[in-house]
Amino acid sequence: MSVTFPFTTPRSLDHEPEAQELLLRRGPVVSATMGPIPIWLALSYAACRQVLTDPRFSREEATRPGGPVTVPSGANPLVLSSMEGRKHARTRKLVASAFSPRMVALLEPRIQSIVDSLLDAQPTDLVAGLFVPLPTMVICELLGAPYSDAPDIRRWTGRLMTARLTPDELREAENDMQGYLADLVEEKRVRPDDQLITALVLAHDEGGHLTSSELLANLQMLLAAGHDTTVNQLGNSLLTLLRHPAEMQRLIDSPALIDTAVDELLRFSRLMAATLPRVTTEAVELDGVQLAKGDAVLPIISAANRDPKVFPDPDRLDLGRDGAAPLAMGFGPHYCLGAQLAKLELRIALSSVLKRFPGLRLAVDESELTYRMETNVRALVSLPVAW
Ligand code: HEM
Repeated sequence: MSVTFPFTTPRSLDHEPEAQELLLRRGPVVSATMGPIPIWLALSYAACRQVLTDPRFSREEATRPGGPVTVPSGANPLVLSSMEGRKHARTRKLVASAFSPRMVALLEPRIQSIVDSLLDAQPTDLVAGLFVPLPTMVICELLGAPYSDAPDIRRWTGRLMTARLTPDELREAENDMQGYLADLVEEKRVRPDDQLITALVLAHDEGGHLTSSELLANLQMLLAAGHDTTVNQLGNSLLTLLRHPAEMQRLIDSPALIDTAVDELLRFSRLMAATLPRVTTEAVELDGVQLAKGDAVLPIISAANRDPKVFPDPDRLDLGRDGAAPLAMGFGPHYCLGAQLAKLELRIALSSVLKRFPGLRLAVDESELTYRMETNVRALVSLPVAW
């Protein structure tokens, strides 16, 4: 039977039945089509991990014209996630030097105070009242962009995250965001501050600075991908907790579980079906299946995160689960650069909501919840709650 990607899983589901079924019935690596392009789906944990770590699976090759594309804005060859090898390592080091774990750790009290003041307003819709403003404020502060620009930033991000953009629409969306960022960069050159844009403008190595188009493309990625994913994972995490009252109570009774809880919610909640696609640079065996040079491959992390060989009883939410790392934030050289920041926001926001509102419940019937349909990411439009 022919297989097509994207799957047609309803947004409301936190798992991907079609992908899990393929893994169990057809094996770890299955051939499929994505639009006109033939593509291998890597479904097992072992296969996904190999695609994400083995240099013979290249992001750079996947961004060449005619290559496999899941989100048009993700195919920009100038961004970190489209690079490979030494070029990737160099750019990642430069971006990471401006985005150090120390910088993120310093944000902890600030994130707590943003969450506290947003919760003081007793939001009845947690998406509008907490999950959108928190990561947006944090990324603006981190970059050194004024929060008064947040409505524009959200609008441009929404367009960049759209799964089906024509080349003209993509160019227009990028021009808007990068025009804004170019002005900010100029401002930081004149009046440097302690924030990330200034650090990235100044960052250099023996090869010099990032070129101005590399700088703008990567700032765009940090600003857009750097907050929208967290917005949506906050919503998915809390909805998952509301659907599992016993596990939610366990977390309320044992707040120290929050670190494993955040990882388990990332594993369980199916924020996205897949990471970015790769293309093989030579013939390679993948979990027992022979692939040719130039084949396109998509790591289906929604299946890998429920691979029973790695996660015992995978369809059970267990906030104390430890063991293998979920692949929700990738793995290997392209592992999410913002993972530490996103997890910090998830940890503080979820803990604070449960502490403040231990009787939290949905204020509408679950069937009334709606999701944004223009993006591949599972994104709640609103989450009305009562307590
Ligand atoms: C819950 C929130 C987040 C999730 C689930 C997430 C997920 C991911 C995944 C799966 C990848 C790997 C893509 C691949 O290998 O194909 C990735 C890469 C990346 N993420 Fe995140 N992300 C999140 C938040 C953030 C934040 C807050 C930032 C920045 C502020 C960020 C910046 C990046 C960057 C720069 C990369 C590319 C790294 C590279 O190619 O070396 N992410 N993310």
